[in-house]
Amino acid sequence: MTCRLTTVTDVLVVGDANPDLILSGDVIPRFGQVEQLLDGADLVIGGSGGILAHGLARLGRSTRLVAATGSDTLGDLMRQLLSAAGVDTSALLRQSDQSTGITVVLTGEDDRAVLTHLGAIPLLSRADVQTALDRAVLDQAQHLHVASYFLLGELAPELVGLLEDARSRGLTTSLDTNFDPAERWDGVVELLPHLDLLLPNRQEALGLAHRLTGAVPVDVETAAASLAAAGPMVVVKDGADGAVSVDPAGHVLREAGTPVVALDATGAGDTFDAAYLDSFLRGLDPQECLRRACLAGAISTSALGGTGGQPTIDQLSSPGRDADVLRQH
Ligand SMILES: Nc1ncnc2c1ncn2[C@@H]1O[C@H](COP(=O)(O)OP(=O)(O)OP(=O)(O)O)[C@@H](O)[C@H]1O
Ligand SMILES: [Mg+2]
Repeated sequence: MTCRLTTVTDVLVVGDANPDLILSGDVIPRFGQVEQLLDGADLVIGGSGGILAHGLARLGRSTRLVAATGSDTLGDLMRQLLSAAGVDTSALLRQSDQSTGITVVLTGEDDRAVLTHLGAIPLLSRADVQTALDRAVLDQAQHLHVASYFLLGELAPELVGLLEDARSRGLTTSLDTNFDPAERWDGVVELLPHLDLLLPNRQEALGLAHRLTGAVPVDVETAAASLAAAGPMVVVKDGADGAVSVDPAGHVLREAGTPVVALDATGAGDTFDAAYLDSFLRGLDPQECLRRACLAGAISTSALGGTGGQPTIDQLSSPGRDADVLRQH
């Protein structure tokens, strides 16, 4: 009998992987060389792609992440933390002469400021991702997810071809653009016919729909419906108010937010995405996908940072017990 070693990858995540430095306490900077002492400083996994890949691994999905880091200590740290959590980091790129991106989050009492240095993030190229996709197909990948579209300067214009290729090889596809720092929302309209799922938050859905139709949408459901009519199931995250999904035929589903004492909302959207993708890949019905995703987003707000509070599959899979799960958390 011959024994063949096979690697299985469920999901290939394309995007950004950079640390978040979360500072809390007396964080409003006073210039003039004043030294301020802080209550907390945590260096944790950040980047929408990194947090989502971590969330999928936590749910038991075999997940490979392709993203560009620099050749420095922060890049090594991301590799270490992600790999210790079960994410396949073999496709993470180390760009020579570049620094790894970093986000500094200043957490105030009821607001936060976010300072980002992109570093190597935008340098991820079509060739890099094509190589990762070809390998993922050999490893039986079922799904391709793209995160942080507006930060991926080199890849963005090449994405239509990449999504087409992935679909022609049997993979399903999804996109969470996250926010567009330029607020122009360019390029996404062309991607819609090549996506199974689009996962924006409220503000992003409104911006993208405005770009698609040329008119300011009257509400978030109208925005989602216009985007969905161009191809994908559109799932809109709405913070404490939960989420709404609209399919290409215009069917609307809603899920109320799960009541929770939120400590830190960083990464709630990516954790929501991870749970929605896992549920979608399990073939669950869209209402159950939405329920699990909302519960995952709520649970993730109960801990500091993007990955600290991500749920396991057991926490999501007992129907009707969302409040109990949160109480135990
Ligand atoms: N305060 C909260 N209470 C309950 N649920 C929440 C809360 N904040 C977030 N969630 C859950 O997490 C989901 C995603 O959160 P949010 O709408 O903030 O996404 P996002 O803006 O994409 O986040 P991110 O900053 O990670 O990109 C929500 O749809 C909701 O289900
Ligand atoms: Mg988001």
